[in-house]
Amino acid sequence: MFSKKIAILFSGSGSNLKAILEKVHGREFNGVKIECVCAITNNPNALGIQKARAFGIEAVVINHKDFASREEFDVALVKKLGEFSPDLTVLAGFMRILSPVFTNAVKAINLHPSILPLFKGAHAIKESFNSDMQVGGVSVHWVSAELDGGKIIAQRAFEREQGMNLEAWEEKIHEIEHEILPQSIINLLSKKF
Ligand code: GAR
Repeated sequence: MFSKKIAILFSGSGSNLKAILEKVHGREFNGVKIECVCAITNNPNALGIQKARAFGIEAVVINHKDFASREEFDVALVKKLGEFSPDLTVLAGFMRILSPVFTNAVKAINLHPSILPLFKGAHAIKESFNSDMQVGGVSVHWVSAELDGGKIIAQRAFEREQGMNLEAWEEKIHEIEHEILPQSIINLLSKKF
């Protein structure tokens, strides 16, 4: 049996980290066992730290505030990832803009809460909700030097229901995220060549 290693980067509540650990970690797909070998956060107060711990994974904290520049933080992040040699790094709610120090060195995918290329950036949920769009959605894409601009791997949309408030919009997005991100990881790592 083959095995493939993933690293997960997160910054906040870690609901997507949890979905990956529940649906992918330690499981076998098409003869390929996928293991999460490390979880890294830039936020020492991230609730996701407890979620990782519940699966026996100690989250590594690399606090971006300890670094003088974006690049220096990225050097530390790339070095830490290198210690685990993941086949794929997964940005699951990782709220940092990454410099070429990271994007040139790491094979990574990112989860974004909109139908890209619409609503790039850190406020996609609110901006898409406040728009005239009658659909919202989620994208998974390769990480490239352009923020939220890499090649799209998977997308799913949903329809705006009448009277839908921001909470319901956000809930729908998270529901889709918890399916589409684990499934994308499985598809990418267990493809037969
Ligand atoms: C998710 O909605 C994810 O799409 C978003 O952060 C949230 C993290 O939630 N990411 C971005 O906006 C990236 N630009 P979680 O911590 O519960 O997984």
